[in-house]
Amino acid sequence: MTLQRSGGAAAFSASAEAYAATMAPALRPVAREVIRRAELRAGETVLDIGTGTGTAAGLATGDGRRVVGLDAAAGMLQIARREVPEVEFVEADFTDLPLADGSIQVVVAVHALLFADDCVATLAEWRRVVAPGGRISLSVPGPGTVVPAVVLHGVYDRYDITWGDDYPTEGELAGWAEAAGWEGIQTAADPTIAISLADADQFRSWLRVGSRGRASADWSAERRAQFALDLMNATPRTADGAYRLPFGALYLSGRRSL
Ligand SMILES: C[S@@+](CC[C@H](N)C(=O)[O-])C[C@H]1O[C@@H](n2cnc3c(N)ncnc32)[C@H](O)[C@@H]1O
Repeated sequence: MTLQRSGGAAAFSASAEAYAATMAPALRPVAREVIRRAELRAGETVLDIGTGTGTAAGLATGDGRRVVGLDAAAGMLQIARREVPEVEFVEADFTDLPLADGSIQVVVAVHALLFADDCVATLAEWRRVVAPGGRISLSVPGPGTVVPAVVLHGVYDRYDITWGDDYPTEGELAGWAEAAGWEGIQTAADPTIAISLADADQFRSWLRVGSRGRASADWSAERRAQFALDLMNATPRTADGAYRLPFGALYLSGRRSL
């Protein structure tokens, strides 16, 4: 079974509480950087695509901006509405946005793009709803040498699970955006971003997030428990005993020309 992306938004919906407890805090610094790179101005309309539990959307509010968070996972949006009540949330597929051409100024997306089957077509759809002169700022996991798959590869292989190794390089990411019509593209990489899981319970919770839970769904309880233990034993730990899974972030920003 190949893990990366399988299950998509439905898998996130079913594991939303586990996501909020593990991944959402890990991605908060990434969301902060995505918002910083978006260079938001007063009064703009901002769309946070694949908003999840609404972190970037919440960070984008202020200065009279209208912020909309969009996600296909109802379970994630339920938490987002609770966490960030000042944001408007829309349940929709990000490959077919329910928005008019040129109706917003800025698109932001934190670790969401790689769930698209066709990243160029998806970036073109995101560009469609941005007004001329508007901007995009996003992140994806990477570079491919630091994602959790690298640390956990041996264990996944032993259990016959393929993570999927198609993380883009900075150049490939920029190429997709360019092919989708974005201009002024700039990229950056931060390999230090990591998921910190305080203890074994948090680690098991993280294992349920998104498509990860699907790999072991029909295993016996014993096999699942052994799999989790093997993964934990393969994961580096910090001095305070927390598990630390390298995740990384590639950033991209660009604009739609006038
Ligand atoms: C790794 S999470 C990131 C969530 C959030 N941006 C954050 O920083 O915590 C990816 C999100 O993309 C959403 N997603 C995946 N495929 C989608 C699609 N086709 N349309 C809309 N949302 C999608 C998932 O439901 C999930 O909430």
